[in-house]
Amino acid sequence: MRPSLSLWKKSASSSRWLTRQANDPYVKARTANTTGDAPAYRSRSSFKLLSMNAKHPFLLAPKPEFEGDKIVVDLGAAPGGWSQAAAHLMGGQGRVFALDILDFTPLPGVHSLKGDFLDPKVQADLRAAINEFRPPQFGLAAGYESGTGEENRERVVDVVLSDMMAPMTGVRLRDVAASLDLVQAASSFAFSTLRSGQGEETWLSKGQQRYPGGHLLVKFFQHPDLDEYKREVLQPRFHKITVEKPPESRKESSEAYWLCQGYKGEP
Ligand SMILES: C[S@@+](CC[C@H](N)C(=O)[O-])C[C@H]1O[C@@H](n2cnc3c(N)ncnc32)[C@H](O)[C@@H]1O
Repeated sequence: MRPSLSLWKKSASSSRWLTRQANDPYVKARTANTTGDAPAYRSRSSFKLLSMNAKHPFLLAPKPEFEGDKIVVDLGAAPGGWSQAAAHLMGGQGRVFALDILDFTPLPGVHSLKGDFLDPKVQADLRAAINEFRPPQFGLAAGYESGTGEENRERVVDVVLSDMMAPMTGVRLRDVAASLDLVQAASSFAFSTLRSGQGEETWLSKGQQRYPGGHLLVKFFQHPDLDEYKREVLQPRFHKITVEKPPESRKESSEAYWLCQGYKGEP
């Protein structure tokens, strides 16, 4: 019996996927046994983050000791490739808080939580975990000492990463709406937890402009609705936003990332 057309199409596309995987240098690097100090990364996505960080090393570089521990939040973290890369780049300093709706195997230096980030209760649990980790003399007192007020007590996060992606339906409008929901949720969380650089000066470091305040790196699907969100909501709150399409992100995919540098505080 001949296979049906839909079965044939399915198996042709799986064999295309297998060939692509076999030839993919990032999949090869991920599955290779690594030696030295670089870990064997859990996902191809790790290389996207490594690439973006190589271009903008301030993102995950360890902080000077006097500034306290670096706190990074990784949303949509499973199976853990970004968290693994972040913890490695931070050189064992600080803490990564990783959250996903799926389970994933724990990693050293990473506090994992499971839940749907769109659920406010899950976001509250994540905030509570960050608050618990934060050394009181640095985090809790910082807002009071500088007289910046109660609202700044929770602003201790240096970087919010979001690689969250809902399962694709193939219906473009639905996929764009899902991406917008996740971008909105990740950025609202960032607005209430990132260190704010309000009133601080920008400075030059190694020929590059640096911006005070925390940073947000968020995945989005390219669409005019998302451009509008960036223009209306993100731009007024950050010093600079760049669009990142790391070479490891497949050209045919409409995913890209916004690197929102230096949270200025609420306009
Ligand atoms: C591209 S994968 C992330 C890969 C990860 N950055 C890595 O390097 O291993 C996208 C993840 O987003 C998660 N995700 C999607 N919607 C979510 C939600 N509402 N809450 C939490 N996680 C979500 C998915 O479960 C999936 O694991």
